Amino acid sequence: MTRKIIIDTDPGQDDAIAILLALGSPEEVDLLGITCVAGNVPLDLTTRNARVTCELANRPDIKVFAGCDRPMGRDLVTAEHVHGRTGLDGYDLPEPKMPLQEQHGVDFIIETLQREPSGTVTLCTLGPLTNIATALQKAPDIAGRIQEVILMGGAYFEVGNITPAAEFNIFVDPEAAATLFTSGIPLTVLPLDTTHKALATPPRVAAFQQLGTHVGAVVAGWLGFFERFDMEKYGSDGAPLHDPTVLAYLLRPDLFTGRHVNVEIETTSPLTRGMTVADWWGVTDRDRNAMFIGDIDADGFYALQTERIARL
Ligand code: BDR
Ligand code: CA
Repeated sequence: MTRKIIIDTDPGQDDAIAILLALGSPEEVDLLGITCVAGNVPLDLTTRNARVTCELANRPDIKVFAGCDRPMGRDLVTAEHVHGRTGLDGYDLPEPKMPLQEQHGVDFIIETLQREPSGTVTLCTLGPLTNIATALQKAPDIAGRIQEVILMGGAYFEVGNITPAAEFNIFVDPEAAATLFTSGIPLTVLPLDTTHKALATPPRVAAFQQLGTHVGAVVAGWLGFFERFDMEKYGSDGAPLHDPTVLAYLLRPDLFTGRHVNVEIETTSPLTRGMTVADWWGVTDRDRNAMFIGDIDADGFYALQTERIARL
């Protein structure tokens, strides 16, 4: 069955690979649009990078929207130290020719959810949650119409990557995350606990190169760039690959295991801002609001990506 989705994103190499995974899976995924948000790099670059990625996949017909250019109540924090100056460093690609849609990304999310039959649209979020939370604030009626939000963000056992206590996407806009986690919408969370088990090891990167396609070479180039930072940081033999886990979960939930638990977002403490406090051990009676994924079949995940990206 085809799932209708909106990808909300801040590309980033790993976001871009997630978009390619969606575009390589037309039988399962009907991509209604891509809404961009400020995150890894400012909004003008995330909107550029989303379009570069669509054109790389020869899909200039995909609708790409600009959403919010800063978090709901804070200054933007970016991650050029991980993703490079453009956010998509690692392979030189042409500037995009396809247009950016005129409508604001938040309005596209609202209009789409109000137009499509209730419970038929899934939001796949790969960046700070500003666009989704702003849409919920502007049109609270959409909450009950969302099939599911599948998001990359947070951590419990792995704790944090941008600070010792927080994962980047939640840290950048914790108020937006808190809005979503208290919304009652069905949530599936792909945290660092999962993505840190999905390492882009040299043989897995080589598999993209060995596809012998342009897209495969670009993906290998991106991963090579992304890796140099994380391998140094973690001392592992490959960098964690985060955002494609969201699409992989949509396509192959059997590759993942997790627990339905309570997750709360820290918004006030300067020390632990953006921490995702997950009641993994069930030690409170707080309502379970999220499927928190803890494990992944990493070989299956990489096999799925190479298979789908080979089609592009
Ligand atoms: C998340 O932060 C970004 O740098 C990545 O694109 C991913 O969405 C990982 O913490
Ligand atoms: Ca991202």
